Amino acid sequence: MTILVTGGAGFIGSNFVLDWFAGHDEPVVNLDLLTYAGNLQNLQSVATDPRYRFVRGDIGDNDLVARLLRESAPRAVINFAAESHVDRSITGPEAFVQTNMVGTFRLLEAVRHWDGRTPEFRFLHVSTDEVYGTLEPDDPAFSEVSRIAPNSPYSASKAASDHLVRSYFHTYDLPVLISNCSNNYGPFQFPEKLVPLCIHNALAGKALPIYGDGLQIRDWLYVGDHCSALRAVLDRGLPGEVYNVGGGNEKTNLDTVRTICTTLDKEVPRDDGAHYADQMTFVRDRPGHDRRYAVNSAKIQRELGWSPTESFQSGFEKTVQWYLSNRDWTDQVTSGAYRDWVEAQYA
Ligand code: NAD
Ligand code: DAU
Repeated sequence: MTILVTGGAGFIGSNFVLDWFAGHDEPVVNLDLLTYAGNLQNLQSVATDPRYRFVRGDIGDNDLVARLLRESAPRAVINFAAESHVDRSITGPEAFVQTNMVGTFRLLEAVRHWDGRTPEFRFLHVSTDEVYGTLEPDDPAFSEVSRIAPNSPYSASKAASDHLVRSYFHTYDLPVLISNCSNNYGPFQFPEKLVPLCIHNALAGKALPIYGDGLQIRDWLYVGDHCSALRAVLDRGLPGEVYNVGGGNEKTNLDTVRTICTTLDKEVPRDDGAHYADQMTFVRDRPGHDRRYAVNSAKIQRELGWSPTESFQSGFEKTVQWYLSNRDWTDQVTSGAYRDWVEAQYA
């Protein structure tokens, strides 16, 4: 038995692969294009593990995916591969349409035409709560039947991919599962996203950019808890079903950044005795910025017995500790040095 993971060199994918090997002997094939967001250093600890195989390539490359399916005969495909950063989707939406929509379509096609599928086979598509759009302050949290109403090119491209995945269940009987998760944080997150960006900038004495008034709300989930939710969906989810995954931790961006700052104040006080929060700087808002996300996880809790283990406090402390203990990882990413290996390897 083998699982084929796509986008496994990114933030959530690499956490998933590491978590998987901590609890399974089942081999993993990791197909990743190694865009700017893919970093094989995340998986250095398993690089020579006989259970692990890395293949550099595009989920949109039909021939490659068809070959990998034939060679590895996976019992599941877990699709993490995506362009994932909202700000980049605003400045350059094309790549989002290409990877998230066309790429997912081609991956589905390759799986549909592969004749080696067993009855146990599953296609798990990893998606986002952003497909549901934005909430008013008193609205109930997003459930699996909430209206799909994406507001950014990123979330629109993810919503389109979710629709395609769903259609392959109804039209072709492909046993698909979809998960829609809230904001993740934890080790190996690319420092363009709020949490690692603020940790890095704080330590570098730079501004911590707060978009607009900073009162936008996100529902934070520790990445390890997302990984356990995905394993639950893969093991026990019903084909054709959607599962929402959230942390139950609604925080304004101001609260989130302040939590990071107070943890840093405790762990690595500034030399001048000032507080890291003094570095918070209000900047121009993100166009089309969703005001509030909140996810109702009742279905996955009730039907699959999943619940998160980290609280907001414990998860953020753990995360700040990880970035403090792995400053070379962030340095390699922010300096661009992590790309050198890719350039040399694939010259
Ligand atoms: P990421 O940007 O850190 O990683 C994406 C990975 O996909 C990278 O390794 C990249 O090289 C790879 N990739 C990109 N295009 C590819 C292609 N055409 N073929 C093969 N590989 C390709 O993203 P992430 O934050 O780890 O998110 C993973 C998935 O989870 C995405 O689908 C995202 O929409 C979803 N998601 C993310 C969050 C979050 O908070 N980060 C929350 C919910 C859902
Ligand atoms: O909700 C799930 C989504 O969470 C995932 O689908 C996306 O892939 C992931 O990137 C994330 O999207 P967000 O846009 O919510 O994450 P980001 O870290 O970019 O921003 C979090 C919030 O912080 C958001 O309200 C924008 C704000 N922000 C972000 C950055 C980078 C700032 O105020 N300043 C910043 O510098």
